[in-house]
Amino acid sequence: MPMVDDDHQDAVDYAKDDLSEDDFPKVKHAVKLVDVTRTYRLGKKEIEALKRVNLEVALGDLVVISGRSGSGKTTLLNIIGAIDLVTSGRLFVMDVPINDYDETFRSSFRLGNTGFIFQSYNLVSTLTAIENVLFPMQLSAKSSDELETEAMALLERVEMSDRADHLPWQLSSGEQQRVAIARAMANDPPIILADEPTANLDGESGQMVRDLLLELNKEGKAVIIMTHDERIIDQSGARRFRMESGELHDNV
Ligand SMILES: Nc1ncnc2c1ncn2[C@@H]1O[C@H](COP(=O)(O)OP(=O)(O)OP(=O)(O)O)[C@@H](O)[C@H]1O
Ligand SMILES: [Mg+2]
Repeated sequence: MPMVDDDHQDAVDYAKDDLSEDDFPKVKHAVKLVDVTRTYRLGKKEIEALKRVNLEVALGDLVVISGRSGSGKTTLLNIIGAIDLVTSGRLFVMDVPINDYDETFRSSFRLGNTGFIFQSYNLVSTLTAIENVLFPMQLSAKSSDELETEAMALLERVEMSDRADHLPWQLSSGEQQRVAIARAMANDPPIILADEPTANLDGESGQMVRDLLLELNKEGKAVIIMTHDERIIDQSGARRFRMESGELHDNV
């Protein structure tokens, strides 16, 4: 696990065109939430899905969060992934106060910094496996040949290169989730977010997904997993938390 120097004041310069891995050791936190709340308003009703959540995730951390249905896990992950906005509080992703930026910046920031894995895979149904992996690479300056080689290497990594031209409905559940993991690895993001990634998978597929997530963490990525999967929760080295009615508690 890389050590993060808390005294280092230099933030990463995201205006730089040629941001490389070497710039990341300067980052103090992969993710930092300060008193984050998220309130949904439905007519006159207010639902406090997140209540003053504080969390610091270092580069290379493995964070596992469990909690009952409706406790706020997906809300929290969507906030960290900059898919959703906080109602109050501060959110930093790779030290960038991401909520202060417009959607255009946030979507390109998302593509480079966070890989998202969903319970129901969320592959684009009209695109083949390899096209799904290429999808997040759309902002890359590399040639399409280079990108295709990269995408194929990612599919090989998840043992899916022989299904590259299959559409999602032509793949099993486990295969779809492996393609989704390859897609999350596109652009080599420092942060991987997974929302109940093994919930719909049988034993063998689930094991493969668990192994891939842990491998990504061993390679230095911060991995944050919302899950009920005991085998992920019991993983040694994981920092464990529990969501309870919108509050985040230590679970050690
Ligand atoms: N778009 C929305 N509008 C209004 N309320 C919402 C919305 N999304 C979620 N909620 C509410 O916020 C709370 C937290 O929902 P969330 O989806 O984060 O829970 P969860 O822990 O992921 O649950 P599950 O384990 O079932 O996936 C719930 O009470 C839910 O009903
Ligand atoms: Mg959820």
